[in-house]
Formats: sequence, structure tokens, C-alpha cells
Amino acid sequence: MIDFILPLFGRFHPILVHLPIGFLVFGVILIFGFGKKYSLYSPIIQLALLLGGISAFLASISGFLQYQSEGYGWDTVKFHLFLGILTTLLSFGLWYHLKKAVSTPAKLKIKGATLILIITITGHLGGNITHGDDYFTEVLPPELQAFLGGEVSTNEPLELPADNWEEVEFYSGAIQPILDQNCKSCHNPKKLKGELDLSSFEGIQKGGEDGQILETGNAEESALFARLILPEDEDDHMPPKDKRQPSKEEIELIKAWIESGSPENTKLGESTINVNLVEPFFKKNEIPFYPVVEVAKLPQDSISKLRSEGFFAEVVKKDSPLLKISCINFPAFSDSDWHMLQSAKDQIVYLDLTGTAISDTILEQLATLPNLTVLKLNQTAIEGSDLGKLVENKNLKLLYINDTQVSLDKLSALNNHPTLEKVFAFKSPVADNGSPSQFSFYLETGSLSLPPLPTDTIVY
Ligand code: HEC
Repeated sequence: MIDFILPLFGRFHPILVHLPIGFLVFGVILIFGFGKKYSLYSPIIQLALLLGGISAFLASISGFLQYQSEGYGWDTVKFHLFLGILTTLLSFGLWYHLKKAVSTPAKLKIKGATLILIITITGHLGGNITHGDDYFTEVLPPELQAFLGGEVSTNEPLELPADNWEEVEFYSGAIQPILDQNCKSCHNPKKLKGELDLSSFEGIQKGGEDGQILETGNAEESALFARLILPEDEDDHMPPKDKRQPSKEEIELIKAWIESGSPENTKLGESTINVNLVEPFFKKNEIPFYPVVEVAKLPQDSISKLRSEGFFAEVVKKDSPLLKISCINFPAFSDSDWHMLQSAKDQIVYLDLTGTAISDTILEQLATLPNLTVLKLNQTAIEGSDLGKLVENKNLKLLYINDTQVSLDKLSALNNHPTLEKVFAFKSPVADNGSPSQFSFYLETGSLSLPPLPTDTIVY
């Protein structure tokens, strides 16, 4: 029944701490203000110091109780607590010196000044615990924050690039920014409300005082999501009522992340997330990445048909006719299955054939896709003998040939391709050649590119 008394007293800590500050500052002002005549005012100064000592004692006790019942880390509070106790002891000590008149006025001033210094540091550390150590710097312009060496506060709403949002990391690029903006102020290593740290992947995995907050693949059973959709006036609702609330779209994205297994290192594009969920975060007024062309919309049942055949098929943006097709769940796709994609020839802008059973023969068909912008041929038997055919793709910007047998020699057929910007060729013979830069496009091989040395005279 009386269990609540101690936590309640703990809650008075932020109020109580102002009493010693007031009393002690007042007492020390009198010590300084009345110089040699201070003895006249000695009884008042004594009273101020005595009340300061008593209230510092109560503040320390309530602070300790608050630390015990509200989930602050020991490392966070230890110096604050230690200095709070020191303030208490020094106040009583000074009071005693005055009472016994053992100190000279000069010594009293030194002791008084020390007391004020210590109470200032104590208060500052306490303020950092409640308001965060970026309390003052947070409102400064970002340049000034950076100049002062602080971590620039990331309170920007989540934005995703409309053109290749597929390449954004699901967790670090989309989920963490949402948590940073809505949850981090209370759930960080310093201010572990509910003993929960939402500022890192490890923290999320660790969970809070009630245990795990993620139930793999099940959003409703995961506190990280379930608490967000509780009615706002329920006690367990997060973030607490009257605090900034995440948007409906942000909550949906968190849900999708949990349902896809809450991965740490998966790109949005690899997670087969529905584009409608990411679209609300697209940056406005961006230069379009996919070609701006008039093509007919593929009828919904044709898209459904593609899906039933095993493709992942999705428009790149709501109301756009342009399609993103992936064979992520269709590894058996081979050259002879091309006819299935024939009807979507004009609409396909993104085609992921990673890990399928295709061969070089398909390059001829791929060359007939007029709007193809991103092509992924990773982990296939492609060797690149007909790679030059892709010169026909007048919109191709990104080509992925990771983990294939394409050689540098074959790749050179694409040199001076009019639109090709970047080729990804990790784990391929191309990568074995270091990172040659003789091409019109940027070649990403994943190998360290060392500056050429005079001894680099070996000709391959
Ligand atoms: C204003 C401070 C504040 C903000 C902001 C906040 N929380 Fe909390 N959170 C708390 C407090 C206090 C608790 C502990 C009391 C409780 O369990 O309800 C808590 C507890 C939790 C718990 C339960 C942990 C456990 O195991 O008991 C989860 C999950 C949670 N918060 C998620 C979130 C998420 C997600 C956000 C952001 C969308 C968020 N919180 C934002 C203050 C906050």
C-alpha cells in the first residue's frame, strides 16, 4: 500500500534541488556582501547554511530514490549523486565553522566560493541527466553545433530518395531516423526510460525492463510497434501523451520492418516492401531518376499475372506506369521464360535477375527494354559475351554484375555507353583487376583502390 511513497518522494527531487541552491547562494552572498561586518549577520548566514544543508540532504535522498525507481544508469548519476552528498557535507561544515567562529572572513569566503562552485557543477550534471547534455547546444545552428564538437542533433524528418530508395538500408536508413526523432530523447544510453535504449540496433535487440520489445516477424506482439498503436490516453501508449507523436506513415514503416524480420543489414529494395509505404517519405522536387516517358499503364490483371508467375512486380511510385520487377522468389527464371515479361517491355525500369538461371543469350532480349534504368545480373552465369548489346538501352544507369564471370575485356564493350553511370562488379574477374578507371562509367569493384605507384609496371 505504501509502496508508492518512496518513488513519489523521488519524484520531488527536481523540485527539492532548488532549495539548497537558493539557501546556499543567499548565505554565501551575505558572507561576501558584508565583509568584515559579517559577524553582525552571522545568525542569518548560519540559518541559511543550516537550511541549505538540510535541504541538500533531502535532495540527495530523493535523488537517490529517483535513481532507484526510474531506471537511470549508475554511470549516468554517480558523479551527480556524489557531488550532491558533498554539497550537503560542506554546507553543514560551513555552518559549523560559522557557529563556532573558527574561520577568518577570508577563509570563509574561500569556503563559500568553493561551495557555490560545487553546487553549480552538481546542478549542471543534474540538468544533463534530465534535459540531455545537448540541452543548450541543440538550439544552436548546426554549423555552430559542429564547431563546438557536438553531435549534430538529427531531428529532421525521414526523407528517402525517390529515384533509388531501394538502395537505402531498411534499419539504419529508415527505421533508426524515425526512432531518433520520436523516441531517442527518452530512450538513449543516458536516459534509459523503461530501461530501454532505442538509439542503436543493439539497444533495440536488448529490450527494456519488461524484456524483449521485438517478436520476430510479428508486429502486433512486438512492444516496439504495439505500444505505438494503443489509444493515446492509455498509460502504456508510446510516446507518452502530449509528446511528439510519430506519423501514421512512420508507424506503418516500423510495422513493415518488424514483419520483414527486423533485419539489421537489408536494403529497402531487398525487403520487397510495398512502395506505398515508402512513397510518403520521398524528397520533393527531385530530378527524376527513372525516365520521364509516356507509356501506357499495364492493366492490373497483367501485374497480378506476373505476380502469380513468381515475379515481384510493383510500380516505382504510386500512379506511375513504370514497373520494378524482381526474381527474388523466382530463381528458376531462365532465358526461355522471357516471354512472360514481354507484355511489360515498355514499363520495366528496374529489373533484378539476381541468382536466376539466365545466360548470355538473354542479353539480346534485355536490349529491347526501352526504359530499363537499373539492371541486376548478380550471381548468374552471365559472362558478358553480348554485353555490348546493352548499348541499345538508352536509359540504363546502373548495372550490377557482382559475382559473375564477366571480364574487364567484355565490360569494355559498354565504354562510352551514353547513359550508364555506374557498374557494380564485386567478386568478378573485373574486380580481380583492381579498380581500373579507364571507362566512361564509374566502376565499383569493392577492392581498395591504391594510388598507382611507379613500380606498378606489370601489364595484364
Ligand atoms: C517523453 C519520454 C518518452 C518518449 C519520447 C518515448 N518513451 Fe517509451 N517509455 C517512456 C517511459 C517513461 C517508459 C517506462 C514506462 C512504461 O513502461 O510505460 C517507456 C517505456 C517504453 C517501452 C517499454 C519498455 C519495457 O520493456 O518496459 C517501449 C517499447 C517504448 N517505451 C517504446 C517507445 C517508442 C517506440 C518511442 C518512440 C516512438 C518512445 N517509447 C518514446 C518514455 C518515453
